[in-house]
Formats: sequence, structure tokens, C-alpha cells
Amino acid sequence: MPGTRPPAIQHDPSRERLDIAGHDDGPATPYPIYLHGWVTRGFGRGSKDLGCPTANLPDSSIQGVPVKTGVHFGYARVLGCGGHAEVYPMVMSIGWNPFYNNDTRTAEVHVLHDYPSDFYGKELRVVMLGFIRPEYNYASLDALIKDINHDKVVAATSVQRPAYSAYSEDAFFSKPTDLAPLPAGEDPSRPREKPQQP
Ligand SMILES: Cc1cc2nc3c(=O)[nH]c(=O)nc-3n(C[C@H](O)[C@H](O)[C@H](O)COP(=O)(O)O)c2cc1C
Repeated sequence: MPGTRPPAIQHDPSRERLDIAGHDDGPATPYPIYLHGWVTRGFGRGSKDLGCPTANLPDSSIQGVPVKTGVHFGYARVLGCGGHAEVYPMVMSIGWNPFYNNDTRTAEVHVLHDYPSDFYGKELRVVMLGFIRPEYNYASLDALIKDINHDKVVAATSVQRPAYSAYSEDAFFSKPTDLAPLPAGEDPSRPREKPQQP
């Protein structure tokens, strides 16, 4: 999403982290937030550098949605994925990825499930249920990986509470698609290109 990148918050390695986020009695405003879109490829560093494959939603899927930058948890479903089309817990980064110095705010979802292959071009539906933490810049790749691994634990723990797990059966996940088809000739598996620096 075009816009002005805010100053990055530097990660503080001495910060204590809990294994759970959100109130026990369920999602608080502005959650739940429902998003969907065709899965597109990111800049391509996700699985390689971080050991954490992410499915990117098109930038348009968060345009006009009052969702704050940072890491969120909830549920996701990738439609048309054979035996892997269930609803699974997910952790999601909405941000400018300051560690990688991006120029756009992107929406990336890591589904807590082992998929046998990539699913570019499939429909991804997401219900965001709570906020885990702000986005940080990190002194090292290892520190970013450590935090992402902790985010996965927080997401898995947080959705187990009944007021959250109920959303895995939300009608949003089973309704017929209303997404406009991808424009002819558009290849969702093509890596995204970073705009040239002036
Ligand atoms: C759960 C999660 C948390 C993340 N937190 C941060 C963060 O705090 N700071 C940051 O720069 N990037 C963060 N990222 C984004 C990664 O930098 C991003 O996934 C990586 O740049 C790969 O993107 P690419 O596949 O588009 O190359 C996070 C990603 C995930 C999945």
C-alpha cells in the first residue's frame, strides 16, 4: 500500500514476552477483522531467510481497513488446497518490514500448518482476532527469527480459548467466493520487485 513509512521502533532484546495475547473473553474492537484476497508472492526472502513461509495478500486487501501495523493472530483458510483446505490458526505481519527496509506496507500471513506446496493464486481468507506486538527493526536476522518463532507460539496458544476458537467455524470461511478474478496474464507467483531507490 503506498504511503509514508513511519520511523521504525528498535527491538529491545531485554523485553520480556508472554506466550498469550488478547483478553480471555474474546476479540476486542477493532477485531474481528476479515480479509481475503488471491495469494501473491512477496519479495521472496520469507522461507529462505526466516524459515517461515508467508502468503502475501494483495496490498488492496488492507486498503481502507483500519488495521494497525504489527503482528496479529487469528485463523486462516486457503481455498482449493485439496486435503489442506481446513481452517488453521495463523500469525500475520502487517507492516513495512523495517529489517528489510521495504517501501510499502504489506500483509503477510503465516498459516500454522505444513502445506505440501506453494499456493499462489488461491483464495486466502483471514480473520484477525488480536494484536501480538508492534513491528520492530532488529540488530540481527537471528533476533527477528527468534521473535517470529515466539509469535507462532503466542498465536497457537491464544486461539485455543473458546471465545477465539469459535471463529474457526465462522461462516466467512465457507461462503461462496465473491472475489473478482485475477486480471488475465497476471502471474501471482512472480516475485514482487522492490521499487528502485532514487
Ligand atoms: C509473524 C511475523 C512477524 C514479523 N515481524 C517483523 C518485524 O517485527 N520486523 C520486520 O522487519 N519484519 C517482520 N516480519 C516480516 C518479515 O521481515 C518478512 O516476512 C520477510 O521480509 C519476508 O518477506 P518476503 O517474503 O516478502 O521477502 C514478520 C513476519 C512474520 C510472519
